[in-house]
Amino acid sequence: MAVLRNSFVTSLPQNGGMHVPERSAHDVERPYRVPLSRPALPPIEEVIDDVRRILGSGRLTNFGPFVREFERNASKFLSVPYAVSVSNATTGLCLLLNTLPRGSEVVLPSFTFLATVQAILWNALVPRFADIDLETFCICPESVKERITRNTSAIVAVNVFGTPCPVEELEEISRARNLLLFFDSAHALGSQHRKKYLGSFGDAEVFSVSATKVLAGCEGGVVTTSREETCQAIVNRRNYGFSQDHDCMNMGLNGKMTEFSAVMCNRSLPHLNCQIQHRNELAQGYKNQLRTVPGISFQCVPEGDVSTYKDFTILIDPSLSGISRDGLAAALGRRGIEVGTYFSPPIHRLKYFQPNSDDMALPNTNLVASRILSLPIHSQLSDGELQFVASSIKEILLHGD
Ligand SMILES: Cc1ncc(COP(=O)(O)O)c(C=O)c1O
Repeated sequence: MAVLRNSFVTSLPQNGGMHVPERSAHDVERPYRVPLSRPALPPIEEVIDDVRRILGSGRLTNFGPFVREFERNASKFLSVPYAVSVSNATTGLCLLLNTLPRGSEVVLPSFTFLATVQAILWNALVPRFADIDLETFCICPESVKERITRNTSAIVAVNVFGTPCPVEELEEISRARNLLLFFDSAHALGSQHRKKYLGSFGDAEVFSVSATKVLAGCEGGVVTTSREETCQAIVNRRNYGFSQDHDCMNMGLNGKMTEFSAVMCNRSLPHLNCQIQHRNELAQGYKNQLRTVPGISFQCVPEGDVSTYKDFTILIDPSLSGISRDGLAAALGRRGIEVGTYFSPPIHRLKYFQPNSDDMALPNTNLVASRILSLPIHSQLSDGELQFVASSIKEILLHGD
């Protein structure tokens, strides 16, 4: 295991106790000096016995012992009564939204990943895009209110990059208007709102454990809820819609998590808080370096909340920095620094979704999407690499590329 030297993480075990993968064929294809993200994986000695048990038993899927263990672990970790594993968060969202009346409207942000809106359209529901807050990049409650009609059945809020949404305000709107409230928490396993892990807010939340997430289970997801009937609705749909007596009473999908993914999650979960603390320290390191640079600002995490920092993003104001977001991204790429531009363009500007959109109603979304840039953040990012990214940004802004 490579040794991570990072002065931001002096209180943590080396690399949060996680395994550092060797450079892979994937890295050779995209030879970045500083990659945007790399999965944090459990040490091989922590998973090998479980892998042997899976191979020995021949039980690879179909809700085996490791998947059941993951559901118990997730429920306990997040302090939520029900945690239902699924094959990925997209499927989890599809199954959850399948409980809504066909043809009804769902309010969601346009500043999100494709999966959020696709789950709506796969269920023949109508997306209504609300604008976001300029500081947190999460859905704006005032805009949500404006998008609700008599035909609205639910709100899907997204905890963007791990930053918690304004939970109480959204819960109040959903209560007052008699709507269901779901959270797309794909980025946010381990985020906290007012000292409570996300997972039990609203009517249900959906987490992803795909390879780019802080808890990386290869592919997978988990739907959490405090409501027994919501838990049952997912259980009734995630196995092709089969009921226990082999009848079928619901639309279904293949939503099964594999035993291998569950092992990855089970063995990574004890390291999760360490990983999140490390990422928060890296984020603070970037902020310290870039705070005084004209034209750069950061996503705000509300006071008292904790973000997973699944992504660390900055905004570039070209009128102050003298360079566009795309100009800076290209210049960093030439220096071997991989960056991301999530979520740009936002959903309502993608061709397939334009008929459902009202561009004029989303000024904050348009602004943030045009300025956003994600910088490298992962458990193996060294102090030196972080300094290199920050000083490259300063140099490009000061002297040009
Ligand atoms: C906001 C958001 N929702 C949903 C998903 C879908 O997650 P999955 O890849 O597990 O299907 C993603 C994927 O990254 C996402 O970013």
